[in-house]
Amino acid sequence: MATRDSRTPFVGGNWKMNLTRAGAAELARATAAAAAGRAVECVVFPPFVYLGDARAVESRDLRVGGQDCSAETHGAFTGQISASMLRDSGCTHVLIGHSERRHGLGEDDALLARKIARALDAGLVPVLCVGETLSERERGEADAVIESQLCGSLTGHSENALASLVVAYEPVWAIGTGRTATPSDATAAHATARKTLGRLYSGRFAERTRIIYGGSVNARNAAELFASEEIDGGLVGGASLVAADFAAIIEAAARR
Ligand code: PGA
Repeated sequence: MATRDSRTPFVGGNWKMNLTRAGAAELARATAAAAAGRAVECVVFPPFVYLGDARAVESRDLRVGGQDCSAETHGAFTGQISASMLRDSGCTHVLIGHSERRHGLGEDDALLARKIARALDAGLVPVLCVGETLSERERGEADAVIESQLCGSLTGHSENALASLVVAYEPVWAIGTGRTATPSDATAAHATARKTLGRLYSGRFAERTRIIYGGSVNARNAAELFASEEIDGGLVGGASLVAADFAAIIEAAARR
């Protein structure tokens, strides 16, 4: 059976709708230098229009991913970007179901399952985000939300097809708020997610799938979070925009 040691730590930098073209190129360069030689899978997710600038400095140690992809393959979908376009532009990964899309844009599990299909067809690694809102947590529904989002978004996909899947547990109340889940709360949520993957597929699949934490990860709290057996790295927003902070987070993942 796989153990945590067989799961390469993963650190993603979600740049969201930030930076300028020059700033994106500079941050990608600094992040590539920070990732160099580390036993960490490090991926930045720039705004679509800056993918090429991040790709231009891509090193063996820094991958580039899209922040979203369309559920459609091609055609009359103004403003959308397909998974195969991302792949064609040098992306290796794509975020699916970030809470700013689930809650801000009303994306539901059925739509996300179709996006995962397009990502897998294009040969991209899907990084599927799940997580409860504050009121769901306060009502004691966090585990049920994690389970139902995983079941709903992964429906129709086989264990083999999902071999590359990364799951990001991102409690909505912790994203961009400076309020981080405690390591023990995050560990419990990750254990729920892993148990769900085991129930949906197999124990082996659950053990080898990386589950990363997102929500106000920073240079000070990363090491404590990543020390948990259940936490295989992080998806980082704000702190990924500060090169020195993101470098410290990559280092914390490498040392776990
Ligand atoms: P944050 O964002 O680190 O700024 O909280 C995390 C995310 O949205 O992925």
